[in-house]
Amino acid sequence: MLSYDVLIVGAGGGGLMAALEANKNKNVKVGVITKVYPTRSHTGAAQGGINAALANVDPSDSPEVHAFDTVKGSDYLGDQDAIEFMCEEAPKRIYELEHMGVPFSRLPDGRIAQRPFGGAGFPRTCYAADKTGHVMLHTMYEQCLKEGVEFLNEWYVHELLIDNNEAKGVIAIDIRTGEVHAIKAKAVVFATGGYARVYWVRNSNAIGSTGDGIAICYRAGIPVKDIEFVQFHPTGLRSTGILVTEGARGEGGYLINNKGERFMANYAPNKMELAPRDMVARAIETEILEGRGWGEGMNAYVHLDLRHLGAQKIKERLPQIRMLAIDFEGVDPIEEPIPVRPTAHYSMGGIHVEDYKTSMTPVKGVFAVGECACVSVHGANRLGGNSLLDIVVFGKPAGAAAAEYAENMPEDTTYNYKAEEERAKAEIEALLKKEGTENINEIRTEMAQTMWDKVGIFREEGPMKEAIEKIKELKERYKNLAPGDSSKLFNTALINYLELGNLLDLAEAIAVTAEMRKESRGAHARRDYPKRDDENFLKHSLAYYTEDGPKVEYIDVKITKYQPQERKY
Ligand code: FUM
Repeated sequence: MLSYDVLIVGAGGGGLMAALEANKNKNVKVGVITKVYPTRSHTGAAQGGINAALANVDPSDSPEVHAFDTVKGSDYLGDQDAIEFMCEEAPKRIYELEHMGVPFSRLPDGRIAQRPFGGAGFPRTCYAADKTGHVMLHTMYEQCLKEGVEFLNEWYVHELLIDNNEAKGVIAIDIRTGEVHAIKAKAVVFATGGYARVYWVRNSNAIGSTGDGIAICYRAGIPVKDIEFVQFHPTGLRSTGILVTEGARGEGGYLINNKGERFMANYAPNKMELAPRDMVARAIETEILEGRGWGEGMNAYVHLDLRHLGAQKIKERLPQIRMLAIDFEGVDPIEEPIPVRPTAHYSMGGIHVEDYKTSMTPVKGVFAVGECACVSVHGANRLGGNSLLDIVVFGKPAGAAAAEYAENMPEDTTYNYKAEEERAKAEIEALLKKEGTENINEIRTEMAQTMWDKVGIFREEGPMKEAIEKIKELKERYKNLAPGDSSKLFNTALINYLELGNLLDLAEAIAVTAEMRKESRGAHARRDYPKRDDENFLKHSLAYYTEDGPKVEYIDVKITKYQPQERKY
């Protein structure tokens, strides 16, 4: 049987940072298990940068201002102690990444360059052109190889094993062979990314961002926190939803409607295009819904105009955006504006982390970092550039804490791994033999379209109740769905089937918690409750899995020094 002291699930930036740190403890054996080859992890899709108050461009910046911007950006739902920690740690983590070899873009004097991003008081976002996540991911993976971290690549983690409220390991499928394994681990660190793939029609996420770790923990009894909060990035390419970085607006790009107006003047006159994402996304949708966009229906769009930046700046700072616009929209941003519309982008909610210093969940030995976790530092609306920061800031202590926990944990000689493995093998065998009457693409499309239409950028009680009923219906239909392929080697039909089960459980939790939150806060914008309601909802939701749908409780937000105020930009 495979056995580790610390098993990290997911090889994006959060998982790799945790692995590097855990691996420093030479008394523990560390392994990383990942559904995709590490350098294909979704961290690689992050474009515009990572925030840290280095004050390289404006000496007035500081971790305190960064913390305040983040608290305000979160619409006061972020936990302020964790946010202060993140912003204090940020400069140290940037220099650590720099020393690992991350090729940050530079100012003329050689210091790390920083660009303006939404909701930030100063240019604070460190970047490597528009490929920041890509270079971070590759650099951290190289460091893991150098340090001899062990990887199980292309393995799908299917279940979390828990006994007596303690981590015991996981059940996983080796995708290459189809073998089902119980893997022993004293500590399990989830770093499996977000759940934004519950949405369609535009989506910036990797196809595999199916919330697996979150759903696995949820079904194992760990609550998911603030799952109703989903970020729609303002600028996805019109046809596909592929990300067009906020860095494009940070470099000076304009958002223009069909009257030729920079319409953000009507929504956030001080910050204009660099207002926080929730506000810019709503502004674009409003322009389109009120007839000031181009095109029809779901294909309508506004313009992101970069032409005034000039060819040299576009080629130097936004080369990937230029290629994406040419390849997917047939427009060269040097010559023409880019057609854009909001795209499902980021999960603010996730696995409930109780202690930001360790990232431990309510189950001993189970940790969660990055987008799959809810610490919570992003609250109701994440600021751009804070997600790459989150993964490195919290990945590091989580790795150290998991290693320390495992080191102090005696060997368990009584847990029956063999029995768990046999049970899981039988269940997967039964699935492979199952005969189904439903079509996976229909269920997945109906789910994602329902979530987009009824639990999307603008929300309202009636449509959300319809969405809850629809997701329940789809969950029933899922019982009559079969993977449709009984082969063992690279059975991606089986993996897609399991991923859809994860998405359906999370879609239901999103819809139920969103309907229950009768206020507007950050990315949760209700037409029927347009105001924030601190008296009743300055609280985190915790959803617990039950067979009949989520059971929801609320816990307090941690306030240190920033009292909630009206959020204006
Ligand atoms: O706009 C972007 O480059 C995305 C950054 C982020 O989500 O933090």
